[in-house]
Amino acid sequence: MKPEIQRPPAERRHAAELARLREHDHDPRPPGWALSLRAARRFIIGDEQSGIRRKFVGDPSLVDRALVALATNRGLLLLGRPGTAKSLLSELIAAAISEDSTLTVQGGAATTEDQIKYSWNYAMLVAEGPSPRSLVPAPMLRGMREGRIVRFEELTRCPLEVQDCLLSLLSERVLAIPELTGEHGMAFAEQGFNVVATANTDDRGVNEMSTALKRRFTFETVFPIADFATELELVRAESAELLNQSGVGTPPDRDVLEVLVTTFRELREGTTADGRSMERLSAALSTAEAVSVAHAVGVRGWYLRGAPGTPADLVECLAGTAVKDSEHDLARLRRYLEQQVPRKHGACWRALHEARDRLPG
Ligand SMILES: Nc1ncnc2c1ncn2[C@@H]1O[C@H](COP(=O)(O)OP(=O)(O)OP(=O)(O)O)[C@@H](O)[C@H]1O
Ligand SMILES: [Mg+2]
Repeated sequence: MKPEIQRPPAERRHAAELARLREHDHDPRPPGWALSLRAARRFIIGDEQSGIRRKFVGDPSLVDRALVALATNRGLLLLGRPGTAKSLLSELIAAAISEDSTLTVQGGAATTEDQIKYSWNYAMLVAEGPSPRSLVPAPMLRGMREGRIVRFEELTRCPLEVQDCLLSLLSERVLAIPELTGEHGMAFAEQGFNVVATANTDDRGVNEMSTALKRRFTFETVFPIADFATELELVRAESAELLNQSGVGTPPDRDVLEVLVTTFRELREGTTADGRSMERLSAALSTAEAVSVAHAVGVRGWYLRGAPGTPADLVECLAGTAVKDSEHDLARLRRYLEQQVPRKHGACWRALHEARDRLPG
């Protein structure tokens, strides 16, 4: 069987759209950008007239502000709760501006400066000492040389001293390589280089970021999708695509997805659709999680029974996705299924209630 990439980067997934936008793009472009700001915006939020699909669902003015920030000499920091499409948005932005979203640093407790700036090919380093040949550029150095957007995921999870290595890159736009002499000892950023970072407000906060670094970023908060119908449509479309890739013949019915999205929203917000207050879960029940539960529900139905996923599949999937490791969340979910769900109308809600015993424990 021919191997297939599970998830190609945005510039490959949407190569045809990018080519079309480029072809008709006569608006002014910031230096080093592959598209004008207006075309980049259309790529991200969609444009029915030119057949460009909406990829990020959210406030178009947020996208404008993000793009404008990147055309200045400050970086962009996308902030928000987990699963609000910060990473997706940064990927789309990099694909639109640089046609490459793969120059990415994944931040974490163990991230080092080597992984951000450059490291060495040790065999060559030993044989011939530090030289341009033995230098192995990491995403920042490559982005500077090639004039591209570099993505920095989960910036605030990195140790503070590592975060601070971005200071001179962002303000002076130069990276010193003290091991090399002469012209190779300094790498100057080409036009088009900038940094899009993401940070999760549930993790270690941005409060710990140094003031100096904060000043070099424009902050934009990405909010969860407010409107029910919009979230439902996104979950339907995204899960249909994932199910198609997983070889699933028939996706779950719309009623099942409606129940799924309602359940997620109610447990996330702590209020029912008709305005009663209820317990909320401590786990992050984001739209991204709703998409993956819809995917799992479809996979269960299809591969276990050769049929579309049902509300009973939803109960089975909720335990592992929504509850994770909290006993309290499991109890809250059980109370939701026992107390709130019976008040709702329709066969799907009844089936969800009847399947409540499938929750573990
Ligand atoms: N506003 C939105 N527009 C488009 N897709 C969305 C939106 N919100 C959630 N999604 C869904 O969530 C997925 C994106 O999740 P992503 O990983 O980008 O979130 P994140 O904010 O980076 O999360 P984390 O903080 O956990 O890293 C998308 O692939 C899509 O299925
Ligand atoms: Mg992310």
